[in-house]
Amino acid sequence: MAQGEDWVTVAKRGKLGDGDMLAVHAGAKEIALYGVDGAVFATDAVCTHAFAVLTDGWLDGEVIECPLHAGRFEVKTGKGLGAPISCDLKTYPVRVVGEDIQVNVA
Ligand code: FES
Repeated sequence: MAQGEDWVTVAKRGKLGDGDMLAVHAGAKEIALYGVDGAVFATDAVCTHAFAVLTDGWLDGEVIECPLHAGRFEVKTGKGLGAPISCDLKTYPVRVVGEDIQVNVA
C-alpha cells in the first residue's frame, strides 16, 4: 500500500443506490456515503456547524442538506454553500473493489 493510503471497506456497493445515503464507521471516523449518478462520495458524517448527522438530512442531487439548521454542502467537494456553514466538510477518496465500497481514511 502506498504511503498516504489507508483503504477501509465500509459497505457493500449494492446497499447504496443513487440518491441513497449510508452512515458508516471507518476506524474511529464517522463517515457519510452518498450515491450520486452511479458514483459514490464520502464525507465526514457530522456537520461542521454543530452536532448533527448529515445522513439524517436530505440529499438533493450532489447537495446534502443538514437536518438541524438546513446548512448545505456539495458532497463531491465538501464545500459549504453559505450560512450558517462557515467551514467546509472533509471529504474522503472512495473506490469500489468488487462488491466493496472502500474509503481512504489516511
Ligand atoms: S448543525 Fe448542520 S447546519 Fe447547523
